[in-house]
Amino acid sequence: MSRPKIAVIGAGQIGTVISHLIALRQLGNVVLYDIVEDLPQGKALDVQEASRIDGFDVSILGTNTYEDIQEADLVIVTAGVPRKPGMSRDDLLKVNSQIIRSVAENVRQYAPDAIVILISNPLDAMVTLFQKVSEFPVKRVMGQAGVLDSSRFCTFIAQELNISVKDVNAMVLGGHGDSMIPLIHSANVHGIPVMDLLIQKYGDQKKAQHVMQTMVDRTRMAGGEIVGLLKSGSAFYSPASAAVAMAESILRDEHRLLPVCASLQGEYGFHDLYMGVPAVLAQSGVIKIVEILLSSEEKKAFRVSANHVKNLIDNMKNLKLL
Ligand code: APR
Repeated sequence: MSRPKIAVIGAGQIGTVISHLIALRQLGNVVLYDIVEDLPQGKALDVQEASRIDGFDVSILGTNTYEDIQEADLVIVTAGVPRKPGMSRDDLLKVNSQIIRSVAENVRQYAPDAIVILISNPLDAMVTLFQKVSEFPVKRVMGQAGVLDSSRFCTFIAQELNISVKDVNAMVLGGHGDSMIPLIHSANVHGIPVMDLLIQKYGDQKKAQHVMQTMVDRTRMAGGEIVGLLKSGSAFYSPASAAVAMAESILRDEHRLLPVCASLQGEYGFHDLYMGVPAVLAQSGVIKIVEILLSSEEKKAFRVSANHVKNLIDNMKNLKLL
């Protein structure tokens, strides 16, 4: 059986870390594409030359030619401009729409059977645009956001409780923007509600609620926190790890249930709308969207987030980008 072929579009910060992680896990051969001459070739060579040390033997090809992604099984799209301090993800709408349109046209031509994971921001809008331009079935086009946002939420909970993050489970749903929804009631440590542990720690419900709210707010703004610290560019290690977790579930047919930006077709009461929801990822893509019971507050927040995504899509239409 031949190794899977994975095309990574965009050889910037995220694309390069993804290529290295794919190699470390031996998930498949990588083709790293970028429009900047020599950049993907240099990055690919750098990763490839770590092979003896790390013990991987997959190949990493850098290229400026789309023909090289021919018949890729999986395409991960990181092409685009990252935000600068003070910018929201939505400020990237115009510039990244033009990039994603051209990527979608080329993926459609050269890798028509691929499953596609997008990372470029504003995420929900870029996934929508890619799917419309490529005309790929919705189950084969998805976005990475929730795995990262959930990991950020889990990290803050683990630090607050001084408990290993390995035992923390918490999920973030909704659009990948300030209106994302970290789920409070289902956040747990080996089944024990995080809220109970906070109440135990502080001996006071109000204080526990305040601490939880602070973690929720920090999760929502976590991308911006890193942009502010880096001054140029945005987070790249954690988004890359998140995308590779999704890629692994697809390539190894693991059936992991992960928060994924997937196309709602009636689930959660929405039609033809990309949003972060729990979904099962397997060899053929998004094989199931799982509807979970949301509290009335969470339902309201989900609607607010959905409206935010819809407004972005309308903006794209008004600007004739979609
Ligand atoms: N086709 C292919 N690659 C492109 C194109 C294009 N049309 N336009 C730009 N690129 C490449 C750039 O040359 C650059 O190498 O995309 C790469 C982006 O890399 P970085 O600028 O380092 O950005 P990165 O941090 O990797 O983020 C990429 O992911 O999280 C989002 O907001 C982030 O939209 C941004 C994207």
